[in-house]
Amino acid sequence: MPELVPVLSKNDIDSLVTKVAHRISTDYRNHDLILIGVLKGAFVFLSDLVRSLDIPVQIDFIRVFSYGSDMSSSGEIHLKKDIEVDIKDKDVLIVEDIVDTGLTLKYLIDYLRSYHPKTIKVCVFIDKHQRRETDIAIDYSCHDVDKGFLVGYGLDYNENYRYLSGIYHLKL
Ligand code: XMP
Ligand code: MG
Repeated sequence: MPELVPVLSKNDIDSLVTKVAHRISTDYRNHDLILIGVLKGAFVFLSDLVRSLDIPVQIDFIRVFSYGSDMSSSGEIHLKKDIEVDIKDKDVLIVEDIVDTGLTLKYLIDYLRSYHPKTIKVCVFIDKHQRRETDIAIDYSCHDVDKGFLVGYGLDYNENYRYLSGIYHLKL
């Protein structure tokens, strides 16, 4: 049986989201901010984040896929669903559940730059360090871990566990 070891409770998550939302609200006050959530994993974090901000924002989604195993991607990333709002000359914040190698975010930053936004920054719920292969800047992160496969709060293993309100370390 897979074991789920608690990493962050719902209360922990609430206070982390409140803190990052405060930073983002301060940094982007009086800007035209568009949040772009990376499907599917970021849908829970994004929905909490937007309700904790105290500035107006627009919201869109993008989706990519990469071939690979259930726990790591091949690094060959393709677009599956594009954005639908116009981000030209706008401030864009990519909202992602977790950054691991960083290859997905590197692809997304490069791709979204082709629409000529004014700025692009990155907000992740979890920054996982050990397997990083790129030097992308993570502008906002809520929680750091070194390694391990995490599930819950939008994160899945084979589409399971996304609905959990806490974050868990999955031990198979
Ligand atoms: P990177 O940064 O390596 O991320 O391009 C590739 C994809 O893998 C996801 N990922 C995880 N998903 N638990 C998950 O549920 C994890 O521990 C984990 N680590 C990476 C990440 O969301 C991205 O889509
Ligand atoms: Mg993801």
